[in-house]
Amino acid sequence: MAKILLLNGPNLNLLGSREPSHYGADSLNNIAECLATKATEAGHSLTHLQSNAEHTLLDRIQSAPINGISFIIMNPAAFTHTSIALRDAMIAVNIPFIEVHLSNIATREVFRQKSYFSDIALGVVSGFGSLSYHLAMYAAIEELRRTQI
Ligand code: DQA
Repeated sequence: MAKILLLNGPNLNLLGSREPSHYGADSLNNIAECLATKATEAGHSLTHLQSNAEHTLLDRIQSAPINGISFIIMNPAAFTHTSIALRDAMIAVNIPFIEVHLSNIATREVFRQKSYFSDIALGVVSGFGSLSYHLAMYAAIEELRRTQI
């Protein structure tokens, strides 16, 4: 059994009402609950944190190893394009992670096309709305199966 951490960055607490043309109609609570069910069905557990504060996300990443987290699914939201601090924390803890985006950031404004995470992530899922999270969870479960012989 692995402990998976789902991390969500700023403004993702507004999912469902925020720019539905980009981010869809599902609420973050609904997404997180579905992912927790999927994790449990696969014999794992999921904890979730959404924060609008960079330092709160940093603290959770830094404490992930002592909390026994072995995989992270992360939508850094706007911090994707700005946060060297979060990038450094992910490198420091060295826990495999998947970067998730609801929208396809490669097709949006130029400032969204740069990610500080893609080159250090195991993989990136972007552009499928809430399905991006489900695809990431599927990939996480497969990766855990492959690596935890
Ligand atoms: C996002 C894309 C980011 O550019 C944006 O700042 C977000 C959400 C996405 O999931 O598509 O808040 O990460």
